[in-house]
Amino acid sequence: MSKTNRNSVTVRVPAKVNLQLAVGPREADGFHNLVTVFQAISIYDDVTITKSAPGNGITISIIGDHTHGVPADATNLAVKAAQLIADDYDFVIDAHIEVNKSIPVAGGMAGGSADAAAVIVGVNELYELEMSREEMHEFGSQLGSDVPFMISGGTAIGQGRGDQLTAALSRGTYHWVLALSTVGLSTPAVYQECDRLRAGLDIAAPQTSDALMQSLLAADSKAVGQALHNDLQSAACSLRPALTLVLDVGEEYGALGSIVSGSGPTVAFLVADEDQGLDLAVALTSSGVVGSVARAYGPVHGAKVI
Ligand code: C5P
Repeated sequence: MSKTNRNSVTVRVPAKVNLQLAVGPREADGFHNLVTVFQAISIYDDVTITKSAPGNGITISIIGDHTHGVPADATNLAVKAAQLIADDYDFVIDAHIEVNKSIPVAGGMAGGSADAAAVIVGVNELYELEMSREEMHEFGSQLGSDVPFMISGGTAIGQGRGDQLTAALSRGTYHWVLALSTVGLSTPAVYQECDRLRAGLDIAAPQTSDALMQSLLAADSKAVGQALHNDLQSAACSLRPALTLVLDVGEEYGALGSIVSGSGPTVAFLVADEDQGLDLAVALTSSGVVGSVARAYGPVHGAKVI
């Protein structure tokens, strides 16, 4: 496809789950040092950027399954991403961003970060900026801790705020069942609750889980299931006690492991295969304790022009 005089580009970007999220103490800047293992999974937003008439500025519209609560204005991280690049490269972007959302909103699956990642990749393509991967990551980390990972995808270890990435050696495909809530959780509120629950405790610097890394390398999904761990899980459950019931249903139906994804409230269940995934999805739906259920597999690619 010729890139010259291109008027529009569509980028497909995945959601993520955290296989491990180890949270250090709160730092002076309000953030927490993390060690996290991300996996990109097969639930996608499609972000289309179309050039518009000079003077129109950057506009946005949201369509699809999950539009409720997504701002359709300049406060959307996707618009901020385009503006950040325009300011840095010193040119004017007049374009419309259409986000076709399938990634749950405020669910701990990096939906907002994914759209920002898609815009970085899309603007780079549409305006032929020829950015390096590092430069795209640099823009990404200015926008949010998860944005660089949503550009790379696959499986990766995130350090610092979660934005300093190294690729993780992972084999095999993992099948997930996701229990979604109808109401999201605020990430800052969950970190705050985590600090409150740990007040007075001596919190060690976060470390990568050797057990998890070895299980990923061996494609041992049972061992991966046992190694899933999120330090924000008790905070998410404290703010949303019903999550404990959701976790119980998964355990009862023999999931290999379960974890609240990121700051929640999405609960991710690792299952052995698609059949077990279907059984668990039915059980969760009929349990009445979840808003809705989705199935996905990972790892998948990061933000990519389609
Ligand atoms: O970077 P991002 O915008 O995703 O972070 C949202 C909020 O989550 C931050 O404002 C902060 O309160 C909290 N956070 C944190 N430590 C991190 C990442 C996020 O405390 N490493």
